[in-house]
This record gives sequence, C-alpha cells and structure tokens, in this order.
Amino acid sequence: MSRVLSGMRPTGPLHLGHLLGALENWIHLQNTHECFFMVADLHALMGEYEDPREIEKNSIAMVIDWLASGIDPEKSTIFIQSQIPEHAELALILGMLTPLGWLERNPTYKEQLREIKGRDLTTYGFLGYPVLQAADILLYKADQVPVGEDQLAHLELAREIVRRFKRLYKKDFFPEPTALLTKEARILGTDRRKMSKSYGNAIHLSDAPEAARKKVQSMITDPARVKASDPGHPDACNVYSYYKIFSDDAEVKAVYDWCAGAKKGCTDCKKTFAEILVETLKPIHERRAKIAADPAFVGKILKKGRARAEAVARETMGQVKELLHLAK
Ligand code: TRP
Ligand code: SF4
Repeated sequence: MSRVLSGMRPTGPLHLGHLLGALENWIHLQNTHECFFMVADLHALMGEYEDPREIEKNSIAMVIDWLASGIDPEKSTIFIQSQIPEHAELALILGMLTPLGWLERNPTYKEQLREIKGRDLTTYGFLGYPVLQAADILLYKADQVPVGEDQLAHLELAREIVRRFKRLYKKDFFPEPTALLTKEARILGTDRRKMSKSYGNAIHLSDAPEAARKKVQSMITDPARVKASDPGHPDACNVYSYYKIFSDDAEVKAVYDWCAGAKKGCTDCKKTFAEILVETLKPIHERRAKIAADPAFVGKILKKGRARAEAVARETMGQVKELLHLAK
C-alpha cells in the first residue's frame, strides 16, 4: 500500500476552504493508503518566531478540527512535527546537499518575502522551509503527497533533493514523492476574496450554527439586485456559488429560478442556504462535542501517533546515518 504524508501549519481555526481543499481528500485517502497527517508546528514557527505563544494551542485545536472533520485515528497516524526530532535532523542533513540557488529561486519564497508584511522573513530558517518539508516527506518515505497548487514548487524541490541524494550516495533510497494535486479551493470567502482567517471572511468548521448563519447573512449578493423585485444574476452572486458547492442539482436549479425570476429575496435565499450549511456542519459539530466530552482523548491520539511516527522516523534516520558514515 502506498504511503501518504501531508501536513498543515497550525495557524488558526480551519475553515470551509480547508475542508473542501484538503480534508475531504485526506478523509478519502485514509481508506486506500497508509496515511500520516502531521501538524507542521516547526513550519509555523518559521513565520511566527517573533510571537510563538499561540502555536501549541493552535496545534491541539487543529487536531480537533481534523478529528471532527472525519480524520480517523484508527486508520491514520496523526502527529506533531516538533515531537519527532528526526525531522530537524534530516532537514539539517538534506541542507548540506541542497544548493542555495534552488532555494533562492523558489517562487513561493520570493512571493512570500514580497507579500507578507509586518514580519521579518529574511531568516536562514525561512529560506530552508522546503528543505524541512522535504525531510517531513522523506523521513516516512512517502510516495504520495496531497497538496494544493501553492505547494507544488516545494514538492518539486523535494524531488530534486531525492535525485541529488541518489546521485551522491545510493540508488533508490528515498522514493521520489508525487503530488496528489487537490483542486484549488473551490470556495471564496464571504466577501468574495480568497477565504482566509486574516481577511475575516472565513466560515470556520468550529463556528456554532448561530455564528455560521450570521456570516451567511452578511454575504454580499448580486449588487444589481437592489430590491427583491429586481431579477438577480445568480452567476454574479457568491451565495449561488455556495449553493453549487453544497446542494444538489435540483436545488441549484431552484435557486437559479427564484433569483433570476425575482421570486425570492436575498435575505430569504441566504436563510435557506444557512440551513443547508448548518446541516453540512452538523456531523462535524457532533464529533467535536464527543471529543470535548473526553478531555484525555486528543492527548491519547497524539501519543499513539507520536509512537508510530517515531518508529518509522528512527528507522529511516538510522539508515541515513549509515549511508553517510555518521556514527550511530
Ligand atoms: N508547507 C505546507 C503548507 O503550508 C505544510 C507542510 C509542511 C506540508 N510539511 C509538509 C505539506 C509535508 C505536505 C507535506 O501547507
Ligand atoms: Fe444571490 Fe440568492 Fe440573492 Fe440571487 S437571490 S442574488 S442567488 S442571494
């Protein structure tokens, strides 16, 4: 069975974009692959080293979001990156053979340096972000890595590192990991920009029904539809695009008709959608409540995950040391 590894940085509560863009995919993969899902807290530290106070709290909250969404600890290994020191160790070693130019040319690096304001990211660690990510993957010899498009450059770097390792030391020690590309998040934020915690436009998986309803009610609709008697243009409306994600074809068609035919006003239309959303989130809420009722549960899952991850990581690291003539 081929092995999957993926991770997310614990930077805050997960939202619908994470559910549709990554978690749904992970949940399916659990049935067909041996899955490792990692809380990338060291990667979070690269961006948040100036104020790391929230990282541990966010790590636990993210694991709860995963479990509530349907990541099953009986099927998958869930663990926290910083608890397995071999990630740092392998990253250091891969760093020895990674040319600086590969990292400096990395488009994600250049873009983030340009776009992320208010933080000093001109650090050694941040330049090496993809080297640590390569170590995450290679430590488990994962052959498949479900990621979004924004991570493809990092994955390509991991593949290049594997090829260089192969040339230098030994054929076929690490498999070349391939991306399982998740479709770009199909969902926009409530204000039509990219859904993101920092824009304040996200519907979180942990939002209580009342909060979710309020957010739906605040959504901007077709700007040309001033009065309920004005016919609307569903294709220009974000609420309609949400219906297309969460409803079946018949319902989507009904929305189109009442909107274009001015048969229902936007407030009503959003009320109807809010209930569909609340219904979608219900199983997640129910699982979350069960998890909350047993305060020791998450700790137990993480302990088990750590032990499983540790066993694989130690074995790989032992082999790497042997290959590189480092004392064991
Ligand atoms: N860099 C990824 C992100 O920001 C998170 C991540 C860290 C990751 N290590 C990984 C993803 C290994 C896949 C595999 O989303
Ligand atoms: Fe959007 Fe619904 Fe209003 Fe049409 S009726 S503009 S789909 S909210």
